[in-house]
Amino acid sequence: MKVAIIGSGYVGLVTGVCLAEIGNKIIFVDNDEKKINSLKKGEIPIYEPGLERLFKKNKNRIKFSTSIKEAVENSKIIFITVATPPKEDGSPDLSSIENVATEIGKYLTSWKLIVEKSTVPVETGEWVSKTIERTSGGKVNFEVASNPEFLREGSAIKDFLHPDRIVIGVESKKAELLLRQLFKPIKAPVIATNIKTAELIKHASNSFLATKISFINSIANVCEAVGADIKDVSLALGLDKRIGPYFLNAGIGFGGSCFPKDLDTFYWFSNKFGYNFELLKIVKEINQKQRERMIEKVEKELWIVENKTIGILGLSFKPNTDDIRNAPSIDIIKKLKEKKAKIKVYDPKANRNVKMIFGDEIEFYEDPYQVAKNSDCLIILTEWDEFKNLDLRKLKKMMSQPIIIDGRNMFELEKLKRIGFRYIGVGR
Ligand code: UGA
Repeated sequence: MKVAIIGSGYVGLVTGVCLAEIGNKIIFVDNDEKKINSLKKGEIPIYEPGLERLFKKNKNRIKFSTSIKEAVENSKIIFITVATPPKEDGSPDLSSIENVATEIGKYLTSWKLIVEKSTVPVETGEWVSKTIERTSGGKVNFEVASNPEFLREGSAIKDFLHPDRIVIGVESKKAELLLRQLFKPIKAPVIATNIKTAELIKHASNSFLATKISFINSIANVCEAVGADIKDVSLALGLDKRIGPYFLNAGIGFGGSCFPKDLDTFYWFSNKFGYNFELLKIVKEINQKQRERMIEKVEKELWIVENKTIGILGLSFKPNTDDIRNAPSIDIIKKLKEKKAKIKVYDPKANRNVKMIFGDEIEFYEDPYQVAKNSDCLIILTEWDEFKNLDLRKLKKMMSQPIIIDGRNMFELEKLKRIGFRYIGVGR
């Protein structure tokens, strides 16, 4: 099938490349000419495992353009995957969606299915439809559908090609059948519903996952107070099929570009429709406090933080990505800097991005042992696999004081004690 992807950012690229992989012809569009030129040269502007390989493998089925007109002319299904960044009041900025819908309307000459895939609040589908109707002059038939994405950074290709479910929000059998056909090679249950329900499922999913994390972090805090172990609590909770084992890892909380933003949007539009969804506010507050607790732990171990050397391992908001948007590391570094600590950091992928924020104010290293050298304490903020295989005895010898504060509970308590570390996790 001929598919256009308007918005060649993270979601757009993964969607288009995966749709090419299952046999479709893709035209990627973006208004950023530089980005389109790099893509034409085969340069992928984001780091996502497997994306580059699939991109190269399917290059014969992929085209690029900066023109929405060309995309409309060369496709039957048009995915809108532009950014919807948060505004001050928690509402998302939907102006890019409106612009794209306006443009699509101008160039429609035959029936198309326009699918919103960007994360958008309920009613966006209606507005997209009205906008296209207006700019197309009501002369051409078209339909709008919703197909929310459930892609995790770091495993987006797998999530796309092997999802738990595919949600399609449609208003006609024709649109439903077309999307079912598009996704046929992917083996997963398809939930076909109306557009508003599909839009809402996305916010409900992310909010529930975020709630699970804040819930387990709250239990972890109680565990710390009473001397229980959150690892065993999570294990036991997760074995209950009604609860499930995922998203029960206690730590410094969630970051990234999705959960924090989606909680705000869901809260904002529930309010707009007359429901005060207080739970979501509290989930976010708990998450923020979880970061502050790390600073409290550092102070508890080091007493005076000023002039102490603190090593940080892991900066990205989670492993296998260089993304630092809303990463706990940024808040934690800022707080430690306020307290005048000397900060040394290492991340396998995110050093460059963090350097853009802090420049020379903190020290960047290409190796965890260099970070450990002469540190009074090491803090782990991202659970990269690489850290699991660290030579802990070597690490200990290099440090000024053998203290590890592990915001991701990566290590066994007993093992670290045996080696001679003072090891503080979350909820243990
Ligand atoms: C999330 C959702 O998982 C995707 O389904 C969704 O499509 C995406 O948002 C989106 O809306 O675009 P993502 O933000 O990439 O994906 O990352 P997750 O793997 O969900 O992790 C989010 C945060 O939760 C990370 O900071 C992670 O460290 C934290 N987390 C996760 C925990 O603290 N504990 C856990 O048990 C699990």
